[in-house]
Amino acid sequence: LKHFLTIEGLDKELLTEILDTAESFAGMSEHQVKKVPLLRGKTIVNLFFENSTRTRTTFELAATRLSADVLSMNIATSATSKGESLLDTIHNLEAMHVDMFVVRHALSGAAHFIAQHTAPHISVINAGDGQHAHPTQAMLDMFTIRQHKKQFVGLKVAIVGDILHSRVARSQILALNTLGVSEVRVIAPKTLLPAQVKTMGVIPMHDMDEGLDDVDVVIMLRLQKERMNSAFLPSESEFFRCFGLTEAKLKRAKADAIVMHPGPINRGVEIASSVADGPQSVILQQVSNGVAVRMAIMSMAMHSQGGVA
Ligand code: CP
Repeated sequence: LKHFLTIEGLDKELLTEILDTAESFAGMSEHQVKKVPLLRGKTIVNLFFENSTRTRTTFELAATRLSADVLSMNIATSATSKGESLLDTIHNLEAMHVDMFVVRHALSGAAHFIAQHTAPHISVINAGDGQHAHPTQAMLDMFTIRQHKKQFVGLKVAIVGDILHSRVARSQILALNTLGVSEVRVIAPKTLLPAQVKTMGVIPMHDMDEGLDDVDVVIMLRLQKERMNSAFLPSESEFFRCFGLTEAKLKRAKADAIVMHPGPINRGVEIASSVADGPQSVILQQVSNGVAVRMAIMSMAMHSQGGVA
């Protein structure tokens, strides 16, 4: 893969190769190896036009561990505030001989747009675009599921909450179905499901007790208020009562079910603290796995002979 923009169109073999490569990087720290020289001499620029804690930091760490030079641009203090366009910003950074852009943007399609207009030797990685895709998050989530469940075949996965505005859910659904899970359920009020939900390869449900019954993996999502018209914001207390994950509701899932969340979590809105910090939660393991998975994706993109994901 030259660019990594979406999970759509990627086959099971490529997704498995990413997970296997990430596994080799995850094993590095067990052997006290902190850095490998795979991207020595390469320059990676993080361009985050939207805020981030986990994605930006793990991309920076991943690039550092691959021995790349990494620069995270402060968009708030850049010349974009003086009216410089996205493409002019990109072309000016290209003039500094960079090799990769890691892009987060509020507009769906922004990373694709940059990939189409940037110099041919530059790779573009999508770190989240609008409500469209967050493919590296989906891959670190797949890595975490495989770590705990060993294989995807036969798994029942429930994704709960604001599916409508979630780029994470869209990418997870594509990855889970490509990797061969047996069921992906989406549990949400009708107002927080996309109109095209019936074509997404999921089972739409509206009741937590029914939706969580016998599942292996529960993925919780926050209300993406920044993408909602405030007039349609659900009441947080009402949302928690109907769709918040509590210890009582989690009992409907399999006894060894894992609880995931891409973060940031809103305690008491979509998840109770006792579950987020409880024995079935793998939320912080997802964050740790982000480094190895992003190392895998960056090194595979840099050593690619072509092709666009
Ligand atoms: N999961 C995720 O994308 O978190 P950040 O917004 O902190 O990067």
